[in-house]
Amino acid sequence: MINDRIQEMINEQFHKELYSAHLYLAMSSYFLTQDLDGFAHFFRLQADEEMMHAMKQFDYLHEVDGQVTIGTIPAPETSFNSIIEVFELALEHEKLVTRSINSIVKAALDCSDFATHGFMQWFVQEQIEEESTLRTIIAKIKLADGNKSTLYLLNEELLQRQPEEE
Ligand code: FEO
Repeated sequence: MINDRIQEMINEQFHKELYSAHLYLAMSSYFLTQDLDGFAHFFRLQADEEMMHAMKQFDYLHEVDGQVTIGTIPAPETSFNSIIEVFELALEHEKLVTRSINSIVKAALDCSDFATHGFMQWFVQEQIEEESTLRTIIAKIKLADGNKSTLYLLNEELLQRQPEEE
């Protein structure tokens, strides 16, 4: 049986992943309204990944005989003003998620919950990848410096993004 505090933390994380999916859908929608289909596609796939993260945690809690508590998900930001603003917000959000994941890893170690510690390592690696991907795109947007042709090429590049394998 999973420790109550760890169960609570994973439940909170499950809701943060669902919030992330909503946030990235809002970002995808914003880009569709700007006719930037590649940027929209990037965040659509990002939202799908967040749902997958949430479901990994949902399944894990059941596997260890824990309980999933379904609660409310706050509404995300839905008003954006520029490409760079969206990506910088996404990176700031991912940094929060990384801190949250790390706090679960630490709590799992503190109470010798090695199963949860092992389970969470996948998320530790995923956060490294997510932050790195966003930083790379932000650097490219900054290099473009508002040049429409360069941003168009970046939009086309992001349109090629494939769904991540689980
Ligand atoms: Fe589920 Fe973007 O971390």
